[in-house]
This record gives sequence, structure tokens and C-alpha cells, in this order.
Amino acid sequence: MQIYYNIASYRQWRQTVRGRVVFVPTMGALHAGHASLVTLARQMAGADGFVVVSIFINPLQFGAGEDFSRYPRTLAADQELLASHSTDALLVPDAPDMYPNGEAEIRIVPGPMAETLEGADRPGHFAGVCTVVAKFLNIVAPTHLILGQKDFQQHVILARMIEQLNFSINLVVAPTMRETDGLAMSSRNRYLTTEERRRAPVIYRTLCWAVREAQRKPLDAAQLTENIRQRIEAADLKTRYAVICNPHTFAAVNGNIGRHDVILIAAQLGTTRLIDNMQIE
Ligand code: PAF
Repeated sequence: MQIYYNIASYRQWRQTVRGRVVFVPTMGALHAGHASLVTLARQMAGADGFVVVSIFINPLQFGAGEDFSRYPRTLAADQELLASHSTDALLVPDAPDMYPNGEAEIRIVPGPMAETLEGADRPGHFAGVCTVVAKFLNIVAPTHLILGQKDFQQHVILARMIEQLNFSINLVVAPTMRETDGLAMSSRNRYLTTEERRRAPVIYRTLCWAVREAQRKPLDAAQLTENIRQRIEAADLKTRYAVICNPHTFAAVNGNIGRHDVILIAAQLGTTRLIDNMQIE
């Protein structure tokens, strides 16, 4: 595995490469969920193609008071995981390389669908995500991009960005990887105390329960949402949002739940913010 610590040296390598380049952008603190994305990237790239991973903790997508400074930095372990999953190139640029003027003067600001849910809780978050991913797409020049299903709103917004800004890239969304008790894998799970970790799977259990209920009989979205909230709060988590919504617009479902709708949950457990989702179908 080649490691490039700056954009210029990566670009030199990229010029020598033809064919499929499958890209997995990350913020590091890699876990088995990331490993599954890289495994998928390897399969998609085949023997002749290339797997590129980036690690960059993007300051632009963190709000004031969020966890930018304590976000886990585990570069040595990350390199080992990526090398053992047949990554060809790892790009680890620093902030001055990505944002030479100290901050991004030009940003990609997505529309109203980025102002709800995660976007309402974390103003400016998706502008930060879109800006850094657009930059990486220009730098890495991939043919394929892999994102995880866990960050549901993120991959929908990025799909819209790719389409509407005419990036010539195929986006593949990979399923959420879970711990044996169902907790969605996340770099932020490292923040949980032992006692919090024990309570965290209530989100997954509640999603499974709600999906089963919605599949079993016609259900009113407002009623089911209220039941979801009660179950999460009974485990002493604070619900930031729990919604049943259209997976393309994030508009909350009014009345009966349809089989294409999605349930999105964000909950605060101590100092940790957890998100998860499940589609009804
Ligand atoms: O999902 C993430 O880890 C980040 O939002 C991403 C896509 C790497 C952009 O910084």
C-alpha cells in the first residue's frame, strides 16, 4: 500500500493509473464497518483496478462544541487495517493542504433537504461534507465511490450532489455493519462507557420492532414515531429525532406508512451522539 501525505504526490501517482479506481472516503478511527467498505471496493476494483482510501478529519463538518478535537486519531492502526484489506493507495492530507486559506472560501451548500434532521441538529454540517467530498472527488478522480448506509441523509445528499454537479462517478451504498447485539458500527462508539455501551443497542432493537410492526399491519406514522421515542427514552437515551420519512425528500410521513419509507433515529447517550436507520421493506 502506498501512502500519500499530500495532494500533489497522490496526483502524480494517479496520473500513472488507468481503469477502475474505487474510492472510500473516511475520517479514520477505522473499524469493521470501514473494513467491509474496503472489501467491497476491492471486489469492485478487481485485480486490474485500484482501491483508494482517504483519511481526513474534516474540520468544516464539525460545529462549535462538537467532537472535532476529541475525534479518535488512530493512524497506525488504520494503516494496518487498510494494508491487510488490499488497499492500493491511502491519502492522508493535512488541513493546510485541503484548506490552504485556513478555511474554505468556496463551499457547496446543499438545499433544504440538508437543513432537516442531522442538518437541523448540526447547522452547516452537510455543507462541510459536500465541500470536502467534492474536493476529494476532484483530487482522487475515482470511477466509483463507496459510502455507508448508516449515514443515510449523508449518502442521499451526496448522491444528489454527484447528479446535480455532473460528477462522472458511480455511487455505491454499502449496508450498515453491526456489532453482535445490533449496535451500528461507528467510530464514535469508542466514546461510550461500559454502562452506556450496554444500553446503546436499544436503538437497533427499536428499529427492528418498528419495522416489524409496520410490516404487520397498516400503521399511522405519528403513532409509531411516538412509540419509538418512548422505547428509546425508557433506556434513558435522549431522542434528538425519530422520524418515519420519505427516503428521497426526508418529508415526514403523514398517515399510513409505506413500504419504501425509512425510519431515522438520532439519540444522545451521555456525551455521544448515535444515529441509525432502517427501511421498512
Ligand atoms: O462519513 C464520513 O466519515 C465523512 O462524513 C466523510 C464522508 C468521510 C466526509 O468527511
